Amino acid sequence: MNVSLLAQDRIEISDRAEFRDAVLEGLSRTPRAIPAKFLYDARGSELFDAICELPEYYLTRTETGILQSCTPELARLAGPGCALVEFGSGSSVKTRLLLDAMPDLAAYVPIDISRQHLDATAARLRRDYPGLRVEPVCADYMALDSLPADVNGAPRLGFFPGSTIGNLEPQDATAFLRRARRLLGDRGAMVLGVDLRKDPRRLHDAYNDSAGVTAAFTLNLLRRMNRELGGTFDLAGFAHEAFYDQIQGRIEIYFRSLRAQIVTVAGRTFAFAEGERVHTEYSYKYDAAGIAALAKSAGFTIDRTWTDPDRLFAVTYLEAAP
Ligand code: AVJ
Repeated sequence: MNVSLLAQDRIEISDRAEFRDAVLEGLSRTPRAIPAKFLYDARGSELFDAICELPEYYLTRTETGILQSCTPELARLAGPGCALVEFGSGSSVKTRLLLDAMPDLAAYVPIDISRQHLDATAARLRRDYPGLRVEPVCADYMALDSLPADVNGAPRLGFFPGSTIGNLEPQDATAFLRRARRLLGDRGAMVLGVDLRKDPRRLHDAYNDSAGVTAAFTLNLLRRMNRELGGTFDLAGFAHEAFYDQIQGRIEIYFRSLRAQIVTVAGRTFAFAEGERVHTEYSYKYDAAGIAALAKSAGFTIDRTWTDPDRLFAVTYLEAAP
């Protein structure tokens, strides 16, 4: 019998192996932790889109509002003919604000690990922006070190919105930005969206919404382990937990075991004590000094910062330092 696998099946098998290894490693460690990127399976991505619509989750709508008013100036700063490089191009609502303001881009280069996401986004943008060269790159943007040769020559403008940088611990945030600095080159610039430090109550509520969507997003990771790794997690036996640590300036997110229990996943057995937590996410919040330090440590200078009237969120324009 001729057994051959489609490219898509091979990708799914290697994705699953990566997920399994990360889960087994993360649950064997003390304290337990599973990397945030595994929250985004198809259902997780849908739930995250729903989070962005929540009344408590001010980040997305605030950043969109800032971008709506700053894109003309941003386009002037970037100048004509650059290649727009987006790190982790989920749905492209914010991207479109930039594309609309910059009709003379040399190319749009979305980088995403999900082939499906990437192809769908590229197809929609090619349809809606017939004059735009779309050059998708299927890769983990945390590990990418070159761009398609056809965008050589054009100055590069990076785009990393949504305060996704907040998921990274400070040293990883610096490492990512350094890598981006190298990728974007000496004439490169970067548009970075960052959530700001603010009233702890407001931050707490943004990650503990009354409709329970954020809880469903966290607990979807258990569902994913059950489905993809033959897990036996009882979803009623765990709870979402999120709180703001004002000293560290970060939201911490976990799932917590509500009782002593034993769970099997990927053929291995793990005991959970009552109250034991598994870390899933950090969401770091920055102040102006923190953003400046981050930019500097990665070889950028801050050219311009835009915020909303309540100073909830910041969009910064970074330029490669000589
Ligand atoms: C996508 C990392 C920006 O930290 O606010 C939202 C993820 N997790 N609610 C954030 C998230 C729970 C989000 N980022």
